[in-house]
Amino acid sequence: MQTLNVALGERAYPIHIGRGLLGRTDLILPHLKTRRVAIVTNAVVGPLYLERLRAGLEGAGVRTAAVVLPDGEAHKDWETLNRIFDMLLAERCERSTTLVALGGGVVGDMGGFAAACYQRGMPFIQVPTTLLSQVDSSVGGKTAINHPLGKNMIGAFYQPSMVLADIDTLDTLPDRELSAGLAEVIKYGLIRDPEFLAWLEVNLDRLVARDTDALAWAIERSCRNKAEVVAADETEQGERALLNLGHTFGHAIETGLGYGEWLHGEAVAAGTMMAAELSCRLGWIDAAAVARIEALFERARLPVWGPRLGVERYVELMSHDKKVEAGKLRLVLLREMGRAVMHGEAPASEIAAAIEARCR
Ligand code: NAD
Ligand code: GLY
Repeated sequence: MQTLNVALGERAYPIHIGRGLLGRTDLILPHLKTRRVAIVTNAVVGPLYLERLRAGLEGAGVRTAAVVLPDGEAHKDWETLNRIFDMLLAERCERSTTLVALGGGVVGDMGGFAAACYQRGMPFIQVPTTLLSQVDSSVGGKTAINHPLGKNMIGAFYQPSMVLADIDTLDTLPDRELSAGLAEVIKYGLIRDPEFLAWLEVNLDRLVARDTDALAWAIERSCRNKAEVVAADETEQGERALLNLGHTFGHAIETGLGYGEWLHGEAVAAGTMMAAELSCRLGWIDAAAVARIEALFERARLPVWGPRLGVERYVELMSHDKKVEAGKLRLVLLREMGRAVMHGEAPASEIAAAIEARCR
C-alpha cells in the first residue's frame, strides 16, 4: 500500500492506494468520530462491494446505514441527491456520523455534496472504485451535481477525511470506463509532469492491459500530482484550474449530447484535442506534438474527435464554464508539452477554427 498526504493543514488527509483495501477497516476506524457510518453507493457498485465494506465495519462494531442510488451521470441531479438526505434523516444520522461514498466520480461528487450540506457538514470518506475517481475526483474536495444548463454547476468545496483507493475494485470495471480514467491520467502528464508523460508514452499499453504494477504506479503518480495542486490552490484561484485541460470543450460535449451519452473521460479526451489544436494555432506547440497527444489517446481507446454539435452550439455551451470571468472565456491550453497555462486572449475565430478542425 502507498500512502500520500494532501497537505491542507488541519484538514490534511491521507490517500491510501493498494490492493485489498476494502477489507482494511483498521484504516477507516481512526477517521470516524463515532461508530456510525452512512454509505452512499449505486445500483452497479452496491451489489459488488457494499456488503464487503459493510461487513468489515459492522464486525468492528460500527452501525451502518446505506442508500443505493440509480447508476449514471444522468442521475447526478437534485432528485437523486435528495435520496441521500432522505436516508440520512430516516436513519437519524447525526452531524458526527461519517458519510462514506463507495463508487465512481458520480457517487463521490454527490456523496461529498450531501456531506457538505447535511446538518451543515458531516465527516466524509471517499472509497473510489473507478480509475477516474481513483486518480482524480476522489481527491481535492470538489463536489457537485449537474444542472440541465451546465455540468457540475451546483456544488461545494468539501474535503474528505480520507481516500481509500482499492485497486482490486478495478477488476470489475468495464474497459470503456478504464479508458475514460486514462484520459485524466494522461492529463497530468500534459499539464505539469513531462517525466510522467514520457513514462506514459512507453507504458500506456500496459495500463490498457490492466497490468497491476503499471496501474498502481500511474494512480500513485496521478494522485501525487493532484495532491500537490490541491494543496497549493484548494479553491481554484489559480493553478488548480489547469487540471481542467480539455474540460471546457469536454463539458460542452457532455451537456450538448445529454449527460451520460459520452463518458466524462471520453469528452475530456476529445476536448483536449481541441485545446491542443488551439495551442498549435497559437504557435505554442507544433503539429508533431498534437499528433503525439492524439496517438496517446488513440492507444487508450479514447475519442480524438468531437461530435458535430455545430461551432455556435459549442461556444454557447462553453460560455457557461466556471472559468468564465466578466463574461470572458478563459481556456487551459498547452504552452509546451508538459506545461499548461490559463489563457483568456485566444481570438474567437481561432477557437471556432480549432473546434471545427477537431469535429467529425
Ligand atoms: P461513474 O461514477 O459514472 O462510474 C462509471 C461507471 O462505472 C458507472 O456505471 C459505475 O456504476 C460503474 N462502476 C464504478 N465502479 C465500478 C467497479 N469497480 N466495477 C464495475 N463498475 C463500476 O463515472 P466516473 O468516470 O467514475 O466519474 C465521472 C464523474 O466524476 C463525472 O460526473 C465528473 O464530473 C466527475 N469528476 C469529478 C471530479 C472532481 O474533482 N470532483 C474530477 C473528475 C471528474
Ligand atoms: N478535476 C479538477 C479538479 O479537481 O480541480
